Amino acid sequence: MRRIAIIPGDGIGIEVTREAVRALETTRDCFGIELELVHFDWGAEKYLREHVSLPEGALEMFRRDFDAIFTGAFGDPRVESNRHAIDILGGLRFGLDLYINLRPVRLLNDRFTPLKSGNRRNIDFVVFRENTEGMYVNAGGNFKLGADQEIAIQEEINTRHGVDRIIRAAFAYARQHGRKRVTLADKSNVLTYGHGLWRRVFKAVASEYPDIDANAQYVDAMAMLMVLDPGQYEVIVTNNMFGDILTDLGAALQGGLGVAASANLHPGRVSLFEPVHGSAPDKAGRGIANPIGAIMTVAMMLDYLGYPDAARRIEQAIEDACDAGEVTIDLGGALSTAEAGAAICHRVGLR
Ligand code: NAI
Ligand code: MG
Repeated sequence: MRRIAIIPGDGIGIEVTREAVRALETTRDCFGIELELVHFDWGAEKYLREHVSLPEGALEMFRRDFDAIFTGAFGDPRVESNRHAIDILGGLRFGLDLYINLRPVRLLNDRFTPLKSGNRRNIDFVVFRENTEGMYVNAGGNFKLGADQEIAIQEEINTRHGVDRIIRAAFAYARQHGRKRVTLADKSNVLTYGHGLWRRVFKAVASEYPDIDANAQYVDAMAMLMVLDPGQYEVIVTNNMFGDILTDLGAALQGGLGVAASANLHPGRVSLFEPVHGSAPDKAGRGIANPIGAIMTVAMMLDYLGYPDAARRIEQAIEDACDAGEVTIDLGGALSTAEAGAAICHRVGLR
């Protein structure tokens, strides 16, 4: 029996999670997988009502009692500080030491990419984004805040341990999935200390994988090449901030934020799965959000839990629904969130 926590969150997070859960339950029933889903109402409503974001003891509970966590999205215009989202998502990512943010960039249908030369063969790679250090550790401060002489310092933390484990994860994934190349994105020509460390560790780990082509690029060049020649990428490994930026570009290549999926992993431990997109207040409550990113995220979760056949079934169902044009308006279709989810669930059950 696997236990999965479901935290829909805010805005369209709630709407797409409803469809993701439906797809998960349909797949569970088709494959006879023993899953227990436990729902949590954490998010802006609860924060505004009870001043609780990530409840006391949550990390211990997840470590002890759960195999995976699925979240929709967090963010609400009424919580200007974004405090609850930072507490919940940041708390889980850092607190559970989920050092791998895995984000696949795979075009589902040639119609979806804005690239003239883009197609399903040349847009198919995965990004390994470091998820626990870099620029996002909140190290720094303001001196003489608000004064003309104000000094603002934001430090980037790169540890050998942290750099080594994400680069190793990328190479191990490449070998396991028959990928032939790993590309590092850094800015070691300017950020010589921190990113110099990334280059050195990359070279050392690469020497243990002679069967895999190791390639290092500056991040600005990669941003350009990802548009001009995305076919060269198979596995990309990079730091927290560059991964954040490059995967939004990646999401655009594959048809927008509505289809992008992600996993926050610590292999062997309870891990967190979430669509890449946020709570989209501009679309919330209108029933038009695309559920594909969330449902594709369910496939990643089933893969992680050891059900690859179930994961492939969901992926195929999504591709078939896309081929049939049974999609939401962001992908040129006419279906609502619930209809698009139902179209995928129907196909999961068909085989
Ligand atoms: P966003 O991802 O919510 O929206 C960006 C744009 O993409 C919007 O035009 C939105 O309508 C569209 N979009 C996003 N998901 C979509 C979907 N499934 N189907 C169709 N269209 C979709 O990012 P934004 O606007 O920067 O942030 C909105 C709120 O979400 C903020 O409070 C932000 O802090 C939060 N956020 C939360 C994240 C998370 O929980 N992991 C990630 C990113 C933002
Ligand atoms: Mg982002």
